[in-house]
Amino acid sequence: MARIALVTGGTRGIGAAISVALQQAGRHVIATYAGNNAAAEAFTAETGIETVRFDAGDYTQCATAVAAIAANHGTIEVLVNNAGITRDTTISKMTREMWDEVIDTNLGSCFNLCKICFEGMKAKKFGRIVNIGSINGQAGQYGQVNYAAAKAGIHGFTKALAMEGARYSITANALAPGYVDTDMVRAVPPEVLEKIIAKIPRGRLGTAQDIARGVVFLTADEADFITGSTLSINGGQHMY
Ligand code: CAA
Repeated sequence: MARIALVTGGTRGIGAAISVALQQAGRHVIATYAGNNAAAEAFTAETGIETVRFDAGDYTQCATAVAAIAANHGTIEVLVNNAGITRDTTISKMTREMWDEVIDTNLGSCFNLCKICFEGMKAKKFGRIVNIGSINGQAGQYGQVNYAAAKAGIHGFTKALAMEGARYSITANALAPGYVDTDMVRAVPPEVLEKIIAKIPRGRLGTAQDIARGVVFLTADEADFITGSTLSINGGQHMY
């Protein structure tokens, strides 16, 4: 039986590429999304991957969705926490709401789904968790105190979780993408983005597939000894 894989924010951008790559690797993938029904429908039509709509930053919604997936398909054994948002601005202009939204969606969602899926993985004595961090959690980024804090939090969270999961053969790793050609990065002002790309030794933005292949690597059944690591995929922009 194919292992069940849940990918949050899995219908668009990096998440969609991860969902497809995991499907190609033989997983039974379920992709979550927060609100864009049209994108989710188009994604399912194209890939055949089932989607489920809930707010990954909301603990109760996560618990309800995971229970439904368990009832319909079985235990989630591969979990990719990819859902993320930006609310970029300097701290002078950042509201408390912009802070909370980013922390809840990007970091809170990792807690919610790791906690809820952990018991099932423990019972199976198998789990593969990948939390999507960011170069900006490693290096910081002007205009992103909320996002950088959430992503740095993911990196620490993942290392602590790796310690707890090890005895049950549950691995937990972070993947830190650099600047990848997605809607999120295209929202950066062009003149700012141009300067960022100029600092990438590889000379280009990443592709969603560049990131997805890292997730396939970290979630393979054979990856049992890789845990607590942070895999940077950033074209050489930040070597950490
Ligand atoms: N370094 C130094 N100064 C900077 C700067 C930088 N990197 N960026 C902006 N400034 C300066 C501006 O020139 C401006 O200076 P003046 O007041 O002298 O003109 C000052 O900072 C404030 O600028 P704004 O009033 O325009 O600031 P703002 O609050 O509107 O924020 C911004 C602007 C959001 C920071 C915008 O510059 C921006 O979008 N920057 C890019 C942020 C970014 O890289 N986000 C990543 C999104 S993708 C992602 O997050 C995915 C991932 O994981 C990699």
